[in-house]
Amino acid sequence: MGKDSYRVVAIDGPAASGKSSVARELARRLGFALVNSGAIYRAITWHILQNGINPGDTVRVTQAVESARIACHLENNESRVFIDNVNPTNYLREDRVNEGVSRVSTIRRIREIVVNKMRHYARSHDLVVEGRDIGSVVFPDTPYKFYVDASPDVRLQRRLAQGQRDEIAARDHADFSRLASPLIVADDALVIDTSHLTIEEVVGKIIAQLKLKGLAL
Ligand code: CDP
Repeated sequence: MGKDSYRVVAIDGPAASGKSSVARELARRLGFALVNSGAIYRAITWHILQNGINPGDTVRVTQAVESARIACHLENNESRVFIDNVNPTNYLREDRVNEGVSRVSTIRRIREIVVNKMRHYARSHDLVVEGRDIGSVVFPDTPYKFYVDASPDVRLQRRLAQGQRDEIAARDHADFSRLASPLIVADDALVIDTSHLTIEEVVGKIIAQLKLKGLAL
């Protein structure tokens, strides 16, 4: 028998803010499962590109996604997405996915599908969930919300250091300005500027705050 309710730590923030590394290390330290919501939007984007669909074509994107089988599992305590039995993990950082994902993720029906997947994970696991709207929209009732940020310069340098061509300024603009679940700081989120902090330092700050909030660790 499962528990009645599971805990969710929400980690939101813009591209290359350090969210993913922080969320992974935090999940490991807490023993919670890790859900990367961006990876689900990326997997869907990859799928529609594979099918020759333009990410800006809302009708065709929605049709293709509605008729695909999107299965989310945990593998080594981390979320994995399979679409029509294909695991696109190795393709999620392709340039074309970087370019298309912010278009696809503006579509309300797509967001609804992804949000349902995330909430489904929370029915059976304690989670660290990273994304853009986790504290504001997906799990607004969780008391454990963090907004991880860094200066645009630092974020750009981090992406370059990963060897990626990623127009993060364009993605930031799209993510902040869209109508559906824009990237905002949830009222009750703790904002952490990671520009001059190591991953360990950020995780340390988050754990200290979780303890203050009474999360049993
Ligand atoms: O790793 P990075 O921060 O660059 O991006 P990501 O977390 O993989 O997310 C890729 C894109 O998916 C974002 O730029 C958003 O457009 C979208 N996204 C979203 O709309 N909502 C989320 N909860 C997560 C990602």
